[in-house]
Formats: sequence, structure tokens, C-alpha cells
Amino acid sequence: MSTSEAPGFGLDLPEYPWEAMAPYARRAAEHPDGAVNLSIGTPVDPTPEHIRAALAAAADAPGYPTTHGTPALRESIAGWYARRRGTPDLDPADILPTVGSKELVAWLPLLLGLGPGDVVVRPVVAYPTYDIGARLAGAEAVAADSLDELDPAVRRRVRLVWVNSPANPTGAVRSTESLRALVDSARAQGAVVASDECYAELGWGEWDEARGGQRVPGVLEPAVSGGDLSLLLSVYSLSKQSNLAGYRAAFTAGDGALIASLVNSRKHAGMIVPAPVQAAMRAALDDDAHVQAQKDLYRARREVLVPALEAFGLRISDSEAGLYLWATAGEDTWTTIKRLAELGIVAGPGVFYGEAGAGYVRVALTADDDGVAAAARRLTNASGS
Ligand SMILES: Cc1ncc(COP(=O)(O)O)c(C=O)c1O
Repeated sequence: MSTSEAPGFGLDLPEYPWEAMAPYARRAAEHPDGAVNLSIGTPVDPTPEHIRAALAAAADAPGYPTTHGTPALRESIAGWYARRRGTPDLDPADILPTVGSKELVAWLPLLLGLGPGDVVVRPVVAYPTYDIGARLAGAEAVAADSLDELDPAVRRRVRLVWVNSPANPTGAVRSTESLRALVDSARAQGAVVASDECYAELGWGEWDEARGGQRVPGVLEPAVSGGDLSLLLSVYSLSKQSNLAGYRAAFTAGDGALIASLVNSRKHAGMIVPAPVQAAMRAALDDDAHVQAQKDLYRARREVLVPALEAFGLRISDSEAGLYLWATAGEDTWTTIKRLAELGIVAGPGVFYGEAGAGYVRVALTADDDGVAAAARRLTNASGS
């Protein structure tokens, strides 16, 4: 590799945090039966056959795809919001596919025209990309779960509020009332609310619709939006519910003027979902059965892991929905990470998600059944029970 002598290039971003996990991953790999990786929530089950077939059938794609998404895809997304998210009558014009949702999270502040002096609010314990997006725009990220927590001088500068329910990493779900209150206070400020809802189909307990629970509330639902989508964006991803993380398949929907502006900027910037992926997304969104089948797999893995983690001495908090168990042993995060690594289990350090994550670890449900069973055995044996 030849290296440039001239400094001064590259963005001033923190080192990607997961690099800090390398020693613990190495330690876990020394386990005689191998490591079980429950750190990054990357899906491990196969992409459903009918989605792969749709991708393959659309493989002949010599022309440029549409940035706004095909009308057929946007119809499928609108249909899914109506069926699954309590949001009927969404205008397909007010929907936009994205290249996975991480890119939208990272670029939204810039694409909204935010910059120095503007404040982006993100949850106190949060997916780190909300902060990165603020930095890429030169705006200031502020951690808060309600605008009432902010100093008035900061509150006046808020232009974008991220909400993430069900949350990564905590699995906490915000009620309709709490979302509504956040929307009302952000609107009073003239700020956009971007609601990252990618775990909404994975509710447990009282949020498990498949077991008589309620639907996880979303920002576009009339009970939250008041029937007015202005300043609201729902951000959604098919990575988890359809095992499509490798396809980069996601979308956003809401305020028509914001969507139109995003479409225009993204046309200029070449932020376009490939045509075969757009076809695959339709196949995924038109079929609810595979999402329910995948959810059943995660539910079963969760039911194996919860008692094993508790037997090991971890207390699980929140974790009402999504792909993670948010747990603490009442000690330093890295002590728990090390103790788990000694059992050949790799977990995510809570401190990666903000200072309020100190003392916690995030345990993902994304290992196959054998891996989850092995992790549970090791945890239970280590507890001596
Ligand atoms: C809260 C949250 N938002 C966004 C993403 C990004 O999803 P993707 O880029 O795969 O669509 C993730 C992935 O883990 C996430 O947890």
C-alpha cells in the first residue's frame, strides 16, 4: 500500500466503535466449541425463496432505476402501512425507497439542509448513526427523550428529532400518547420528527400482535399524527423482518413536501435503490406470512436466552420488542463483556450507545437455533444451576 504524505483529507469521524470488540471476539473464539456471536444484530436465517426469485426475475436491468421508486413498489409500501402499521390512505407519492435505512439516518440532516447552529435530538441511549448524521451535516447532536429535557436556548435550535421505537439497543416501546406528545412538541418548534421504526413487527408480550397484544405504535398513525403528516417521516427497513440486510432495502414515508425534496436531492446525488432490489422489496412487502414465520423463530430464541441470561445473573430491562435483550449485571459493561467472552459468547457493549448505556450489554437474538441453544447451555452451566 502506498500512503499519501499530504494530511488533511478525510472526515473527522470517530473510529468505528465495533473495532474495540476485537479482543473479546478473539477471546470468545478460543472456546473449545467455538464462539456464539450475539453482538451485531445481523440476520442469519435465509432470505425467503420468493424474495430471491423476485430479485432474480428482475436481474435484466440495463437502464437506470427510478430514485423515487417504481409506482408498483410504492403501492406495496402503502399497502403494508395500511395492513400492518395502522396507517391507511398513505399517498404513494409520499413514499421513497432508500439504500437500507442506515444511509438515510446518516444523511437525513444534510439532505434536510441542516448545518451549523442546528440541533438534532436523538434518544439518550441510541443507535450511534443519529449522531454521525448530525456531524456529517455540521449540526449538533443532543441526547434527549423529550424536548422538555432541553434548555430553552437549545430547544429553540432543534430542527430534527429522532425517535426510535422499538428502540435499539434497549427494546423499549413508546406508547401512542408518548409519541403524540413528542410530535406535538416538535411541531410547536417547527422541527421534523423522524421515527425509526424498523423493529415494529417484532413486538413481544403486550406488543406481540400474534399473541393477542397490541400493535407497536407508529408516527404516521392518525392517533399520533392527528391525521396530518406535516413534518413527520417514518423510517423503515426490511433488513430484519425479511432477512434482507444484504439487499439494502428500506424506505421512508410521510410529509409530501419533505419526500419531494429528498427525492430531488437524492436524484442529484445518485442515492438510488437498484431495480432488482426494488422488485424484491415488493415481493417482501406483499407477503406477511414470512415475516410472521421469522418472528416465530426470534420469539423461540428469545424464550431460550432470557432465562439463561437471568440464571447467569443478568437483569433484563425494557426489551419489549426488537432483536435485542438489554441486560445488566450491575457491574462495568466491559467486565460483563469479558465474562461472556470467557464463555465463548460475544455481546454488544452498552457504552456504544451513549453514556446512559454504561453497565449494560446488548444481547442479540441473531444466532441460529444451535448457537442460541449453545449460548444458553454455557450461561446456565456457568451459573451452577
Ligand atoms: C435503529 C436502527 N436503525 C437503522 C438500522 C439500519 O438498518 P438497515 O441499514 O439495515 O436498513 C438499524 C440496524 O441495525 C437499527 O438498529
